[in-house]
Amino acid sequence: MPRAALITGITGQDGAYLAELLLQQGYTVHGIKRRASSFNTDRVDHLYADPHQEGVRFFMNYGDMTDATNLIRVVQETQPDEIYNLAAQSHVQVSFETPEYTANSDALGTLRLLEALRILGMERKVRFYQASTSEMFGLVREMPQRETTPFYPRSPYGAAKVYGYWITVNYREAYGIHASNGILFNHESPIRGETFVTRKITRAVARIALGLQESFYLGNLDSRRDWGHARDYVRAMYLMLQQDEPGDYVIATGRQHSVREFVLRAFGEVGIKLRFEGEGLEEVGVVDEVDLPRFSAARRGDLAAELAADDGAAAAAGQAGSHPALIDGEGPVPPGSVVLRIDPRYFRPTEVESLVGDPTKARERFGWQATITFDELVREMVADDLVAARRDDLLSAKGFVVREFRE
Ligand code: NAP
Ligand code: GDD
Repeated sequence: MPRAALITGITGQDGAYLAELLLQQGYTVHGIKRRASSFNTDRVDHLYADPHQEGVRFFMNYGDMTDATNLIRVVQETQPDEIYNLAAQSHVQVSFETPEYTANSDALGTLRLLEALRILGMERKVRFYQASTSEMFGLVREMPQRETTPFYPRSPYGAAKVYGYWITVNYREAYGIHASNGILFNHESPIRGETFVTRKITRAVARIALGLQESFYLGNLDSRRDWGHARDYVRAMYLMLQQDEPGDYVIATGRQHSVREFVLRAFGEVGIKLRFEGEGLEEVGVVDEVDLPRFSAARRGDLAAELAADDGAAAAAGQAGSHPALIDGEGPVPPGSVVLRIDPRYFRPTEVESLVGDPTKARERFGWQATITFDELVREMVADDLVAARRDDLLSAKGFVVREFRE
């Protein structure tokens, strides 16, 4: 019998990468998805197989972390060996607007799932993973943060996740459940939700490069995060549940960058050198220089070839005359264009200014370490959003309506 896993939050970024990984490992994967008025399974549609076929190992069940009876029934019907509790209202800023709902789904939802195991007498059968977070460190007590660093959450989301963390520890100690907390630092990917800062930036950069929008707005440019790639981080979740003993682990790269650095790096990918002018709410990001060969390659979709070529040779080959549409300020982003502004709407009532994790314990216990660098992450995200922007550009050129989907 293949091992069975149940993933809550399977339609999210991590759920999709984890489902892929577990299917590769031979698991049968059950996911819980919410009922929505429109399709919400984009990230896992490629894994879906008609359940009438033979050998299908991927199944979806309707459910919600706020519905205890539903969770009990789904656990009973799917009989998982491993449960990965990834479902959450995961947006920190939104948690200030919906604090009670966030506590209900993120804190009590975790309790409901753990109780389901007890009610069904499955405490010794099932291994349990809780998606804990570096947001619990909040107003950080030490640098870098490790498993022993005290928590000081700075948002309703962070506070709810602290409850989720401790109830997981408590059920492990009280009932002997193989339950582990992954204290994951920020991790991103091309399928990151569009309203988290990294994806918001890479989408905007791609759309600005294609001429689909002129500028975009951000909040605090100076907060610092330890950004890794989701593909690396779901491997850590899986490894935690393969250990003989449960435990709590920091999963991070050990390096941090500011939002400002992310912006500069992402624009750099499409050949735009940005400079910042002004201060506070008046600060703007202005195009300083455009590397035309790289910019054109990004627009055309030849960026990989351009990057593979020797930089010097590419620059020599890329005479301005070979990009007639983009010289003399005719391109969509001539030097001097303001492409980034500040909007106080995106500041949080209480901010987490600086996070960086120490993943030594995970490396020593089960050999985990991040393999994808910050530069590779930004490159992959921008490249993917350029594909989407080119598709939108093409559709709009052919007369189809293209929605902007901006916050
Ligand atoms: P995400 O993309 O926002 O996905 C969240 C998932 O939870 C989605 O499938 C969402 O469903 C589902 N969900 C939300 N509320 C639910 C409810 N009440 N009942 C059932 N499902 C619900 O988040 P992610 O980035 O994949 O993160 C996965 C988990 O890790 C979350 O718990 C998050 O808090 C935690 N975490 C994330 C990071 C990070 O940097 N990504 C770091 C540390 C911890 P819909 O698709 O229908 O909205
Ligand atoms: N979302 C967003 N939008 N953030 C912005 C913006 C903006 O326009 N401008 C600046 N920021 C800053 C935020 O203030 C924050 O300091 C930083 O960018 C990162 O914000 P997010 O990308 O929204 O992520 P987060 O760090 O708040 O939370 C994410 O990581 C946590 C792990 O530390 C989420 O994935 C959480 O679910 C996760 O637990």
